[in-house]
Amino acid sequence: MTRRLARPVGITATGQHYPANRVTNDDLSKVIETSDEWIRPRTGIGARHWVEPGQGASDLAVPALQMALDRRGMGAEELEVIIVATVTPDTFFPATACRVQDAIGAKNAFGFDLSAACSGFLYALTTGAALIASGTYTKVAVVGVDIMSSIINMEDRATCVLFGDGAGAVILEPVAEGLGILDFEHRVDGSGGCLLQMPAGGSRKPASHATVDAKEHYVHQSGSEVFKSAVREMAETSRLMLDRNGFVPTDLRLFVPHQANIRIMEAAAKRLELPLDLMVVNINEYANTTAATIPTALHQSREAGRMQKGDLVLLSAFGAGFTWGAVLMRWSC
Ligand code: UT7
Repeated sequence: MTRRLARPVGITATGQHYPANRVTNDDLSKVIETSDEWIRPRTGIGARHWVEPGQGASDLAVPALQMALDRRGMGAEELEVIIVATVTPDTFFPATACRVQDAIGAKNAFGFDLSAACSGFLYALTTGAALIASGTYTKVAVVGVDIMSSIINMEDRATCVLFGDGAGAVILEPVAEGLGILDFEHRVDGSGGCLLQMPAGGSRKPASHATVDAKEHYVHQSGSEVFKSAVREMAETSRLMLDRNGFVPTDLRLFVPHQANIRIMEAAAKRLELPLDLMVVNINEYANTTAATIPTALHQSREAGRMQKGDLVLLSAFGAGFTWGAVLMRWSC
């Protein structure tokens, strides 16, 4: 059974923002024991963009959302809802959505943050779409943003080279019949939680000198376990989207996977029997920006003319939690 929305809802504009500070693999090799020869073939990453100290998630989210509003010709005061997907909010509270609302002047909106790591944007996208499909709202902003440089341990070379900072934003509105989100599937499996996590800083283990000394405020992950689960689940939910809507992989104009590792993305595409030229890749320049990978990839694809209104597009994500999901849509702007 498809998860069809009660009325069609789709993306009507996109935006993005990355920090100016570009850090290449060669730059990293000057401060930690690593090399472009190790990083690039294993991950597909050539560079990442990191914020300057003192910048928070809202500093990237606001220009990304402003770009989407400008593209749509919409004033911030027209927005009714702002959903920010992030695991690196400016502060635990107030939510980053509140900072974005204030900075952008969305004086008629309410908003909240949504925490689902690398699947955050997809969860937020369908949550926002459901608010519109219910008939209650018509203009929803969804932002995926993460400042991963704020939670990586520069002494853990297997992890710190993987992540970047960035923000992508979309505007959701009612669209014509046949366009927008056609179907989606989301899952969680909390038994995988210990394999990719930030162990301290929450209510279970509040920040203390001991947690800081033990470097528990950083990303901890079992890379190979995460790798295998990501390939399996991204391929399976993507396949489900195609099968239950009667499509084959070549019906797609674009496959937009979460950008964690080029080998994960290619392995998932191979399981789907999907031609690799249909897959959107931006990990080479921006690394894994967690909640921002998919909205920025959408923005870049649209700007590059890689998809037009009506094209079939499949989004697929996997991340900490474990969380994962896929969204099938007909592009709507
Ligand atoms: O959004 C989800 C977030 N996370 C992920 O998607 C992560 C998924 N996992 C991965 O992408 C891969 O598992 C990694 C890229 C993290 C690691 O690749 P791997 O091929 O599984 O490498 P490994 O961890 O097994 O390490 C192989 C070797 C080790 O050396 P020894 O013990 O064999 O001598 C590491 O110490 O590579 C070494 N190594 C490095 N060497 C140079 C690990 N990181 C680095 C590095 N530079 N940055």
